[in-house]
This record gives sequence, C-alpha cells and structure tokens, in this order.
Amino acid sequence: MRLILLGPPGAGKGTQAAGIVDRYNIPHISTGDIFRKNIKEGTELGRKAKSFMDQGLLVPDDLVVEIVEDRLKEDDCKNGFLLDGFPRTVYQAEALDKVLEKMNSVLDRVINVSVDKEILIDRAVGRRICKECGATYHIQFNPPAAADVCDKCGGPLYQRADDNEETVTKRIEVYLNETQPLIDYYKQKGTIVTIDGQQSIDKVFQEIIAALGA
Ligand code: AP5
Ligand code: MG
Ligand code: ZN
Repeated sequence: MRLILLGPPGAGKGTQAAGIVDRYNIPHISTGDIFRKNIKEGTELGRKAKSFMDQGLLVPDDLVVEIVEDRLKEDDCKNGFLLDGFPRTVYQAEALDKVLEKMNSVLDRVINVSVDKEILIDRAVGRRICKECGATYHIQFNPPAAADVCDKCGGPLYQRADDNEETVTKRIEVYLNETQPLIDYYKQKGTIVTIDGQQSIDKVFQEIIAALGA
C-alpha cells in the first residue's frame, strides 16, 4: 500500500498514521519528524531546516525532495509506505511522481484529512508528544491517564517548538496557499479520498480503513 496523508497542521495526520502503518505493516515517513530528529542531533540539515520551521514556513523544496527520494529507496519501502506531510507543494508532488516513475511504482491512495481552520489552532496548541516513543496526546481531546506522562512507555511529554498560536496561524496560512492546491492535483489523477477529520480519532480511523478497502 503506497499512501499519502494530506491535511492542514493539526488535522490528525500523525495520530492516524500510527494506526495505519500498524495495520498495513508499512513504514511511516514524516518529513516533519525527519527534520525534528536532525535538529535534535544538530546536523547540517537540521540547522538549515530549523529557521524555516520556527517561523512556520516550509523548508525549501530541493532539501525535502532529496531526503524523501533517498528514504523511498530503502528496503523497507518495497511493499509500500505512508508519507505524512509530504508532498506539500505542487513542485514536491511532481518530483514525487518522477521518483515513483523511476522506481516503476504508483500511488494507491491520497487520504485528505479535512478539518476547519478554527479547530486547528486548539488542536496544535494543546498537543503533547512523548519524548521517548513519539506517541501523540492532547491535553483536552486525548489526554494521558497521568498528566505529562506517556501511557505507552512512561516517558515525559513535551510541546513542539512550533505549537504556539502565532506559529500555528502562520502554518495554516502556508498550508492554504501552498499545500491545499494539491487536493485538485490529486483529484485530477483520481487517487484522492477526503475524510472528515472532525470526528473522534477512532471514527476517522475506521473511515480511512474503509476507504482503503480493507
Ligand atoms: P509537520 O511535522 O508535518 O507538521 P504539520 O503538517 O504542521 O502537521 P502537524 O504534525 O502539526 O499535525 P498532524 O496533522 O500530524 O496532527 P496530529 O496527529 O499530531 O511539519 C512541521 C514543519 O516541518 C513544517 O511547518 C515545515 O516547516 C517543515 N516541513 C515538514 N514537511 C515539509 C515538506 N514536505 N516541505 C517543506 N517543509 C516541510 O494531531 C494534532 C493534535 O490533535 C494532537 O494533540 C492530537 O492528539 C489531536 N487530535 C488528532 N486527531 C483528533 C481528533 N479526531 N479529534 C480530536 N483531537 C485530535
Ligand atoms: Mg504530524
Ligand atoms: Zn511514550
């Protein structure tokens, strides 16, 4: 299964990705996670990406495309993959088409998780993430059993540097201008399915699985 998860900041891409990759046994490729790992490790890529991410802007296309191309060539992608947060511009989508063509591969589905703008800021600002295992929580909508402690591994929870109201507002604006046009791009190819992301986490998951036909 070769899948893309598309949607605005805070739509629930990462939350749904966890269940999807488990079910289909495919790798979860999140460009945002890759950049955050590089920032944490202090690499050159992390240094370049950080200034854009802190402002809520997109990291330049050429940096992103190269990373994804290399990642898709790894062995664990042979039976499929789930791209989360890539592509984010028409340029990236066209570059992905070319990479897949070279690999004699095609996309099965683009899952577009749709959520109204007003809800997205609350979702992102209230998000907490486990420092140890990456599990995602929300202080109100999906709280852990004990405050600031991961249910799955007992690790401490933290807040992402770009999850403040000002940066989230900018990220939403960037999404509307640069990423939303991809909905039409994939409609023309007939591969996109739109899911209402304003339902419960479980309901959204069930609708995604139903749309994937398994
Ligand atoms: P990235 O990490 O991809 O961030 P994003 O797209 O802004 O999306 P988020 O991770 O914020 O949201 P999500 O949809 O994963 O939501 P989640 O499941 O966590 O990118 C960060 C930055 O990296 C970008 O700004 C850019 O600078 C750079 N970047 C990354 N990729 C790039 C690319 N391809 N090109 C250029 N630059 C790139 O859920 C959010 C919260 O809501 C959680 O608290 C969760 O518990 C809660 N929640 C989830 N579902 C529900 C539900 N159904 N009901 C109630 N609450 C819910
Ligand atoms: Mg995410
Ligand atoms: Zn954890």
